Amino acid sequence: MENFTFQSPTQFIFGSDTHKRVGKYVAQCGGKRALVLYGGGSVLRSGVLHEVLDSLDAAGVDCVTLGGVQPNPGSSFVYQAIEAAREAQVDFLLAVGGGSVIDTAKAVALGTPYAGDFLDFFRGKPATEALPVGVVLTIPAAGSEGSPNTVITDEENKIKKGTKADCLRPRFAVLNPELTFTLPKYQSACGISDMMSHILERYFTKTPDNAVTDRMCEAVLLAVKDVAMRVIIDSEDYQAQAALMWAGMLAHNNICGVGREQDWASHALAHQLSALFDSAHGAALAVIFPAWMRYCLDEDVERFARLAANVWEVPAGDDKRQMALAGIERYQEFLRGLGLPTKLEHLDVPEEAIPQLVELLVAANGPTVGNFKKLTAADAEAIYRLAL
Ligand code: NZQ
Ligand code: ZN
Repeated sequence: MENFTFQSPTQFIFGSDTHKRVGKYVAQCGGKRALVLYGGGSVLRSGVLHEVLDSLDAAGVDCVTLGGVQPNPGSSFVYQAIEAAREAQVDFLLAVGGGSVIDTAKAVALGTPYAGDFLDFFRGKPATEALPVGVVLTIPAAGSEGSPNTVITDEENKIKKGTKADCLRPRFAVLNPELTFTLPKYQSACGISDMMSHILERYFTKTPDNAVTDRMCEAVLLAVKDVAMRVIIDSEDYQAQAALMWAGMLAHNNICGVGREQDWASHALAHQLSALFDSAHGAALAVIFPAWMRYCLDEDVERFARLAANVWEVPAGDDKRQMALAGIERYQEFLRGLGLPTKLEHLDVPEEAIPQLVELLVAANGPTVGNFKKLTAADAEAIYRLAL
């Protein structure tokens, strides 16, 4: 285990009807005038936005609203929202939605007090100052409600990339599993793929001796695996949605990842699919992660075999490589069973796009990505081809 510092100051307010008290939490954080961001309309149709605005009003918090954040959120909307935030002189950002809305709120929180281009922070400038962000979560998936990260597509250069800073961790996150009842099956499945990927990016490490976090990773993966199909069958299964909502947060606030080198190559490869083809994030990961696993298997066969046994219930045997491959196969079957794509063609990504995907990957991340195996451009190309 390596040395680390870990700070997770977000207050989580979990349970039925909690979003109706959100005004109180904004006020407790000192928010007097909030920019309320939301997506393409699901929170209007469900009535959630209306209830949130009522709660802000009851708590004496002024607000302006701005809807229209798209999945795989882009830079042009962020510029527009920064203008709106400055014009209205807001002192708080409230995201009502999923990862795309939360990440947009975080980017706006960085960009509003900054005189330069907010994308500077996505090109290496350290972030130290941001307006406070609060969250009402509507989909268990990205884990942005507890993470210090934000991921935005630079639309001009077609690069999807993240940045992180502790000042971006939300002040609070309201987690009401009932708000997920309106989720389409495909979005739930994408969320499940994403949260499992967040654990796997941490699980595949060369750092030795992670007795606690290895077990935590396996436990969260098992829990997600156990309840996943329940929300696909019945989106109103409160207890299953509740388990996923907490798992999605645990998968990515880094409590399962401290003290170990992490990989993140699969995310980098998946991001370029989203940047070029607008693939849903979790769907892109469902295609890329199993291909990455097959390609990197021989880096540490024991680790793959352990995952196969402890999470995918592959019987122990003498041939660890066989066990490892069976585990990858079971993971892929599980993803398929949720209705997710498992090949690039399912995402309408043609073979001819691979050179451009690799070029953009290098432009976004430099000559190598990942740590478990440092992938060169040639490795990345081979993984995209394995996913065909
Ligand atoms: O836009 P609306 O109409 O709200 O519809 C959304 C959207 O179409 C819909 N949805 C959300 N909640 C709903 C609902 N529909 C019905 N009922 C509800 N309760 O779901 C669609 C997807 O929403 P989105 O916010 O894009 O989903 P998700 O939470 O999966 O976020 C994905 C984004 O997060 C980034 C991804 O790259 C992607 O851009 N990530 C952010 C991370 C972070 N900040 O820490 C980490 C992740 O690795 C990830 O990269
Ligand atoms: Zn992710």
